[in-house]
Amino acid sequence: METIPNEGFPRIAACEPTCVKVEPGKIYSWCSCGLSQKAPFCDGSHKKIEGMPYRSIKVQFTEPAEVWFCECKHTKTPPYCDGSHKECCKEQVK
Ligand code: FES
Repeated sequence: METIPNEGFPRIAACEPTCVKVEPGKIYSWCSCGLSQKAPFCDGSHKKIEGMPYRSIKVQFTEPAEVWFCECKHTKTPPYCDGSHKECCKEQVK
């Protein structure tokens, strides 16, 4: 198991949200740590880091919809984008 200091988590996976056409009844497992290679969804990467406090957040929908999933991982309304990327990505988008 890898040991990485918790500093720097959650990682910013991208500085823009991803729009996904969701299907009713399907479970979507959103990555909250930022390490997943299947962003915006969890691929289990958080399990490789000892003491990782960030785990996937699962959501399910009753209707088909277009959903904006947060990729910066700093949203205050996980797993949805709330515009927080404008603040946390400021340094990267100069
Ligand atoms: S991508 Fe994270 S708040 Fe918009």
